[in-house]
Amino acid sequence: MEKKVDIDWSNLSFGYMKTDFRYISRWKDGKWDDGQLTEDNVLHISEASTALHYGQQCFEGLKAYRTKDNKIQLFRPDENGKRLNRSCERVMMPEVPVEKFIDACKQVVKANEHFVPPYGSGATLYLRPFVIGVGDNLGVKPAPEFIFAIFCVPVGPYFKGGMAPVNFTTTDFDRAAPMGTGKAKVGGNYAGSLRPHEAAVKKGFADCIYLDPATHTKIEEVGAANFFGITKDDKFITPLSESILPSITKYSLMHIAKEYLKLEVLERDVLVDNLDEFKEAGACGTAAVITPIGGIEHQGNLHVFHSETEVGPVTKKLYDTLYGIQFGDVKAPEGWIYEV
Ligand code: PLP
Ligand code: COI
Repeated sequence: MEKKVDIDWSNLSFGYMKTDFRYISRWKDGKWDDGQLTEDNVLHISEASTALHYGQQCFEGLKAYRTKDNKIQLFRPDENGKRLNRSCERVMMPEVPVEKFIDACKQVVKANEHFVPPYGSGATLYLRPFVIGVGDNLGVKPAPEFIFAIFCVPVGPYFKGGMAPVNFTTTDFDRAAPMGTGKAKVGGNYAGSLRPHEAAVKKGFADCIYLDPATHTKIEEVGAANFFGITKDDKFITPLSESILPSITKYSLMHIAKEYLKLEVLERDVLVDNLDEFKEAGACGTAAVITPIGGIEHQGNLHVFHSETEVGPVTKKLYDTLYGIQFGDVKAPEGWIYEV
């Protein structure tokens, strides 16, 4: 019998809650140990850990979904495993074999099965894998030891309203330098985003939009999500840049747009002064899923796309297809779904 928990599944926000088990594995003397599940949600690490002083860490985000026939499945965890390793490589941490990563995800989901929200509630189980540099160290150099861990939390929508349009504003701050760490999922990128995020929220926006750090003329990221726009002649456009995070949701939507919706798909510059070319726009990511963009404020002017209150038809189709694949109602492309 599956254990029961008292949670109001339909009203979950994107917030922390302690679940029963998390996975932890340690790297020492050149190798990872086998890893284990633990009930302890507190890490005991050296005060001199590089993760604390020099930001030597990275993380991932992926979800487990409960299907109509009560199976539990992960969406493209291999891609998260590969991206985690690209992030590890960028900040000189040991890679986690992708099979070990997927196995750890499955162990965490299985051990917390009763926290996987019911089908139809719209909620999911969010998994947060991370790697941190630990152990005694003072100089700016890679840590002597590392921890790879995963915890999980049942979550609802990241942006209030879920699949309802929200407005964003551009910011003068940059989240990443042209050849910096923007395409790695490292914590430093997010520390730098706290202030512009708070300023945007104070002005009444859901989050801020980062422009390209070199010229401030092109859209890069929508807070912690990628941008896409649908042109008036039905092309799916998304920015191409070395400093944005390669979103797994974005690449999945590019495939869905091309193969399921039969749209032309292009990664290219998106000029903030030429938003008129789009009839619809959205933010996409694991946490954000697809969040329709009502409007974007830039230099005091609000550019509205389809509507500030209604979801555009192409965005709706993209959402329904992605959501359907993730929850097992629409046939997924080969290799996208991993049953737990
Ligand atoms: N961009 C940033 C900065 C993010 O933090 C995320 C979240 O992971 C994304 C984009 C979306 O990526 P994904 O679709 O792989 O979750
Ligand atoms: C995600 O979509 O998984 C993210 O990492 C976004 C944010 C919560 C950092």
